[in-house]
Amino acid sequence: MDDETRLRRDSCHTFVQGDGLVRPADLLASIGDAAVPDVYGEGGAVAELESTVAELLGFPAAVFLPSGTMAQAATLRVHADERASRAVLWHPQCHLATHEEDAYARVHALDARAVGQRHRVVTLADLDAVPEPVAAVLWELPQRDLGGQLPGWDDLVAQVGWARERGAAAHLDGARLWEASAGYGRPVDEIAGLFDSAYVSFYKGIGALPGCCVVGTPSLVGQVRDWRRRLGGTLFAMWPSAASALNRLPERLAEMPARLAHARAIAAALGDVEGVRVVPDPPQTPMMHLLFSVAEERFVANARRLAEDDGIWVWPKPMPTDDPDVVRCELSVGRATCALEPARIAEILRSLCD
Ligand SMILES: Cc1ncc(COP(=O)(O)O)c(C=O)c1O
Repeated sequence: MDDETRLRRDSCHTFVQGDGLVRPADLLASIGDAAVPDVYGEGGAVAELESTVAELLGFPAAVFLPSGTMAQAATLRVHADERASRAVLWHPQCHLATHEEDAYARVHALDARAVGQRHRVVTLADLDAVPEPVAAVLWELPQRDLGGQLPGWDDLVAQVGWARERGAAAHLDGARLWEASAGYGRPVDEIAGLFDSAYVSFYKGIGALPGCCVVGTPSLVGQVRDWRRRLGGTLFAMWPSAASALNRLPERLAEMPARLAHARAIAAALGDVEGVRVVPDPPQTPMMHLLFSVAEERFVANARRLAEDDGIWVWPKPMPTDDPDVVRCELSVGRATCALEPARIAEILRSLCD
């Protein structure tokens, strides 16, 4: 076992990644005893999850896939296949642009055009600057790499209208739609209902086993289902993940407003703490990014000391920024975070700058 895995295992508490340390027994228990198996994605818990999610988001059809990376690139290619363009628009820091090894281009022959600027969310004015025909526009709500920021609701509605007027599909990367719902103070179906297709994830804020759904028209969903098979995603048995999502979704979704309130209380507690900046402040969803005024080496040493001396696991390695004396980390607020007082969290975070 490597050093990092050992330290993580031995740390008694972590609060920076939502639900805390993965406890295998707890995750396995989320499957429950009553799940009905599927066969190659047909029937059983998979079909039940698909109809539950379609109804929850107000769409006629849904398909379950093993990963968002597989799901979204395939969904966008289906939109493009139905139009006379391969161009997709998105924020420069969206997941497909930064974390998927250019699968959209190399697997699906899509052309990406980033709109707007890296450090803020997309606006209608950014879209207005695009002259070319477009197959689809993707909105990541909330924008994870901006600490969970959301565009203003009215501007979002206008942006989706912009796509529709040009005959482009509007697609939602709703990996954290559950969190966005708390941020907008609107139900998930009202947000998803703006779009032609939406992807939602079950292993992030919901804390289930990995897996996701894409919702849309029966035609779109049928085509994504075909791509799931072509890409090797129609596994022989997908029911454990689907059953886990079915069991966790209702209660975890209901917790999102309280998680957002806790995120804002943490940001408030950090108000007087020198050397730690919250992005965005106040948080717009139950997550935030933190900018620590400390060099990476010292941050890593402080994080290690916290793990060894106090049994608290934070981030083994922060993200670098353009400034060598400032590092960045993501704090997802979940059950484990909510179990700690904001003042205690602020104290722990402050100690990372020592
Ligand atoms: C915003 C966003 N979209 C898509 C994905 C991809 O999800 P998956 O890990 O299921 O491929 C992620 C994963 O972190 C994400 O944060």
